[in-house]
Amino acid sequence: MNTFSEERSAEVVAASFANTPDDRLREVLGALVEHLHAFVKQVELTEAEWAAAIDFLTRTGQKCDANRQEFILLSDVLGVSMLVETINHRAGRGSTESTVLGPFHVVASPPRELGDDVALDGKGTPCLVSGQVTGVGGEPVPGARVDIWQANDDGYYDVQQPGIQPELNLRGLFTTDADGRFWFRSIVPRYYPIPDDGPVGQLLAATGRHPYRPAHLHFIVSAPGYRTVTTHVFVADSPYLDSDAVFGVKESLIREVPEVDDPARARSLGLENPFRTLTFDIVLQR
Ligand code: BEZ
Ligand code: FE
Repeated sequence: MNTFSEERSAEVVAASFANTPDDRLREVLGALVEHLHAFVKQVELTEAEWAAAIDFLTRTGQKCDANRQEFILLSDVLGVSMLVETINHRAGRGSTESTVLGPFHVVASPPRELGDDVALDGKGTPCLVSGQVTGVGGEPVPGARVDIWQANDDGYYDVQQPGIQPELNLRGLFTTDADGRFWFRSIVPRYYPIPDDGPVGQLLAATGRHPYRPAHLHFIVSAPGYRTVTTHVFVADSPYLDSDAVFGVKESLIREVPEVDDPARARSLGLENPFRTLTFDIVLQR
């Protein structure tokens, strides 16, 4: 008989899924049971700890709504989001590395013209963001979609502050020109805390971890015939580059944001002189 025992628990439960018609589902469930049971045995989980875990997961679900995804946040602070992202988007042959999507790409970015200003709330240090999208062979990619979003200078995304920030503040969907280039006006990104007023924040506090992410600007870049990349550019010398709460930093994505003193260029861009510049070229895989 295939009865349950401490020694054979994983084997018995995995066997209960043996007739799962979908091969991949059977494989994933089998591995999940194996690791979950090994974990419970390793720590000899108490009933009180089991109940606390159920309560934590229940509260995590209850914190979710249309604008708040506490489960993604949990996955983020456990490093699982970053691991899934990294496994599924191994950068090759010099293509731009990916990083976490995050929970704030919840509205479609508005199409904007090259050179537009995405900072609608008038806060922060103005900055010209520009770059060129190319393939790994160096060929420019005209017509690529460059979808960007970032937090404002107070450290919040527009969707976190409805009625306080203008709608679609610091979001834009740009299309690269004939040379694959894009440019727009924004602000120098700043560091900010991930939402920490829920169960995930309690987890961070209980473990002595801070909730901060280093200063960054999000990108999703896509073009027909190329693999879409979801990534950020991080600001060199931002606090928390070496302790991102969600483990999203990759060295290849860090850039300086130097000041440029060029009155004529500033005038043509509609920026005050001197101005800051953030240059981020993006290389797509076929
Ligand atoms: C973000 O960068 O927007 C983000 C990523 C993971 C968790 C919270 C925020
Ligand atoms: Fe972010």
